[in-house]
Amino acid sequence: MSNIQFIKTKSPKQKPDNDSLGFGNVFSDHMFVMDYSIDKGWHDPRIIPYGPFEVEPSMMVFHYGQAIFEGLKAYRNINGDIVAFRPLDNIARLNYSAERLCIPKVDEELVWEALKKLLEIEKDWVPDEEGTSLYIRPFIIATDPCLGVRPSYTYKFFIILSPVGAYYAEGFEPVKIYVTDKYVRAARGGLGNTKASANYAASLYAAEEAKKKGYTQVLWLDACSHSYVEEVGTMNIFFRIGDALVTPSLEGGSILSGITRDSVIALAELMGYKVEERLISIQEVFEAHEQGKLKEVFGTGTAAVISPVGELNWNDRVIEINNGKTGEFSKMMYDKLTGIQYGKEEDTLGWVKRIC
Ligand code: COI
Repeated sequence: MSNIQFIKTKSPKQKPDNDSLGFGNVFSDHMFVMDYSIDKGWHDPRIIPYGPFEVEPSMMVFHYGQAIFEGLKAYRNINGDIVAFRPLDNIARLNYSAERLCIPKVDEELVWEALKKLLEIEKDWVPDEEGTSLYIRPFIIATDPCLGVRPSYTYKFFIILSPVGAYYAEGFEPVKIYVTDKYVRAARGGLGNTKASANYAASLYAAEEAKKKGYTQVLWLDACSHSYVEEVGTMNIFFRIGDALVTPSLEGGSILSGITRDSVIALAELMGYKVEERLISIQEVFEAHEQGKLKEVFGTGTAAVISPVGELNWNDRVIEINNGKTGEFSKMMYDKLTGIQYGKEEDTLGWVKRIC
């Protein structure tokens, strides 16, 4: 789009090797920025060199956390094309979060144009090995210099890019998960189904406690009865019980509507699996294990894609799932999803958008 200004960096950075890629530690040469004010709306869209910017210590986001973000990925597919996976769904979800956090909505067409332009400029930053990608992080922060508690009148919107490998150190090996009934991530009526930064701040303390006990992440239960499963760490969660694929339903509004979650449900249904979106208690999960019906557990998310769960600890009752090994469904779904993303499998649902 012609009104997106572009200022090219004078000092391009060295790109990391594929094998040194972790998650979110390296950033590309440029970023997209635009500003919001009440009189001008969202204005001054521009792509500029990635770098620090000056802010006031009184800026509202520092004090009251009015901030939202998204996470999506671009891939270099087997033909060498740069593609993005379901980008319009992420942009739509950004606006869903914006509304809930009293942040003015963005023009989705403009953001899509901006993202395409930024990815074209940064195409050499998309790594080329399977399992790697360019993680795209759009976010909005409240910028008013003011200590009164109210929605800000000014905002900044950014898109930054980071070449990444696996999210968890375990890679695609199963992770060990600690079920907490002491802390909660989100309650009904709260922010749980938005990508508010506050949800991630709320998760840190329990995650650190779990880590001290030797667990990678926390499995969250509902805030009211502490019995029903909600999410795992920064991911949605799935259970293979008997012949069904079960995942918590989104009805209560405290669970994030994950785009990888939605993709797994759609693909599983297309393949003829029985999918149940419903309430599922942690008791049911442990009973299914006792009865030999719990075949697999896995998390889904943009960053981690599919993360098999090999162990659950609930009040010191420890169960090993699928002998602590990656299950065949998780592996099949990982291959299917990444196959679509890297262009090895046909994209029958039109999820992949070619950038250049
Ligand atoms: C994602 O999967 O993109 C997420 O948002 C998780 C992130 C907090 C690492």
